[in-house]
Amino acid sequence: MKIRFTVNNEERTVETDPMDRLLDVLREELNLKGTKEGCGEGECGACSVFLNGKLVNSCLVPMAQAEGGEVLTIDWLKDSEAGQLITESFAEAHSVQCGFCTPGMVMAVWNLLKENPEPNEDQIRLGISGNICRCTGYDMIVDGVQIAAKRALERGGRVW
Ligand code: FES
Ligand code: FES
Repeated sequence: MKIRFTVNNEERTVETDPMDRLLDVLREELNLKGTKEGCGEGECGACSVFLNGKLVNSCLVPMAQAEGGEVLTIDWLKDSEAGQLITESFAEAHSVQCGFCTPGMVMAVWNLLKENPEPNEDQIRLGISGNICRCTGYDMIVDGVQIAAKRALERGGRVW
């Protein structure tokens, strides 16, 4: 069936089975490869995207649920001021090793900082708790989030 939705602020129509996964349509049909597949079971957060303003695991979202919706992916976020600030802060704090978790992690961090621009360490750890990183042990990711939050405040807090 035809499914219409908005992806990264563009109207898109795809011919797909309503039970196909949003993750596969984004990567294979729309060539948006920034969103990664890790576990494929809703456990790792590598496939995180926003659907109608809510952070979701796109490996668990059937296309029927995306019909008429608005999706934002890392392919859009990375070019925004918020995405650039988070990724630069991750680089500064050495938060990234293999980088596989990073797209989903950046989406989760944006979600957190939109809600809470000055999170403490516990709140940061909770905010990224749906995202698994097998490399860094999380401390350097927490450092990266703290740097991003601080830089945003220095810019007057308009970033998120
Ligand atoms: Fe979707 Fe792991 S690939 S949560
Ligand atoms: Fe390798 Fe996070 S940097 S999984």
